[in-house]
Amino acid sequence: MAFSLPLALSMTQSAAPTPNPANVQATANAALDPKGAAISQAEVLNTQIRSQFPVLNQMLDSYPLCYLDTAATSQKPQSVLDAMAQYYINDNANVHRAAHQLSARSTVNYEKVRDQLQQFLRAKRREEIIFTHGTTESINLVAFGLTAQLNAGDLILIDTAAHHANIVPWQELAKRTGAVIKPIPLAQDCRLDINAYRALLALKPKVVALCHVSNALGTVNPVAQLVQLAKAEGAITLVDGAQAIAHIPIDVTEIDCDFYVFSGHKMYGPTGVGVLYGRFEVLESLTPLLTGGEMIKRVSFEATEFGSLPNRLEAGTPPIAEVIGLGAAIRFLQTELTPQVRAHEAELLHYLQSQLRALGEVHLYAAFDDNIGVVAFNLADEHHQDVGILLDQQGVAVRCGHHCAMPLMQSLHLKGCCRASIGIYTNKADIDRFISALTSVKALLL
Ligand SMILES: Cc1ncc(COP(=O)(O)O)c(C=O)c1O
Repeated sequence: MAFSLPLALSMTQSAAPTPNPANVQATANAALDPKGAAISQAEVLNTQIRSQFPVLNQMLDSYPLCYLDTAATSQKPQSVLDAMAQYYINDNANVHRAAHQLSARSTVNYEKVRDQLQQFLRAKRREEIIFTHGTTESINLVAFGLTAQLNAGDLILIDTAAHHANIVPWQELAKRTGAVIKPIPLAQDCRLDINAYRALLALKPKVVALCHVSNALGTVNPVAQLVQLAKAEGAITLVDGAQAIAHIPIDVTEIDCDFYVFSGHKMYGPTGVGVLYGRFEVLESLTPLLTGGEMIKRVSFEATEFGSLPNRLEAGTPPIAEVIGLGAAIRFLQTELTPQVRAHEAELLHYLQSQLRALGEVHLYAAFDDNIGVVAFNLADEHHQDVGILLDQQGVAVRCGHHCAMPLMQSLHLKGCCRASIGIYTNKADIDRFISALTSVKALLL
């Protein structure tokens, strides 16, 4: 059901649109805001970072855009847009194939991003980095690739908080092999139930699929500990890092998982590119999901010999411009995501949680201090979709629904909820605008 805002409300808001904070250029000596209030160093940095995201500088009808849907996809800094444009303007050619200079340049630039990723993730070898089209494809590649290694009755454990992308490919693997899926239950507080997990591990699962940060709740799993426990029982481990990669430094050697997967578009990079990190020996044991050009060593009509990693798992023309864009996103994160900026992001999330609590009649779900990026909520008993539409009518973008985590919603006894999610560019003014818009929605609906 769609609502429209009362005329009085929309007129007050549109008569004096707030200046978009993205327009405010930070300078090193900007210690006062226009009202004379002190601005912290973290806020100055935040303003500098925000000014790199052109899309944020726009009005929706008469409201400045307030983008709180970063968990669905992040916005892109100018450096990523430029890197992709420059690739098409200067270098466009297929990789790994031709003898000509453009192709050589493209190949060098494409392969440089693999080196960047090896360093970014602290992987031991560059061959452990596989480019895919996103997290979903990365998990499908692993789940398909393990088909020959599973037998009927083998156990696959899946985090209850998993995104559908980390559930459905395992179900398909179970169908192909006769393996059995068991969810790892949540405890009362909506975090993974460690005792139940230990009990399930005693059944010697073949595969354990975990999420690092829940896309619906923002809760964080202690993945290094969970992986260590799973490995002690001989399980192959996959960690879905789609919601972690843009917020915290990832060290795959420290986590010690067999696979770590994520998407470019959630880390300020482009859509259409993702990463599969895999421990070399386990990656090598996967049966390729996609076969064809580039992944082979020798082909005849009698037989084909597959090539070696990483090409073996990268059949066909890869998303070259997107990989180049991902390289720029990694440079952006390495420059901007300093401990100070991370602390500011955490502070903003706490501010968001506390402002929602203070509003009253808001149900918050699993809103802990150590959550990352996301707040899940409902306004009293109102339908999440109605709340989302009314927020959108005031320029506020949040996500509403089951968040591709239906089993999690079922375990919370929810049909769905609203999700406000933040990124490196989010500022306090965004949160204040969101809370003010939600206050209007509350006045309208309750
Ligand atoms: C935790 C998690 N896993 C997997 C995905 C799927 O990512 P993609 O659609 O980029 O493949 C998402 C996307 O929202 C996610 O949040």
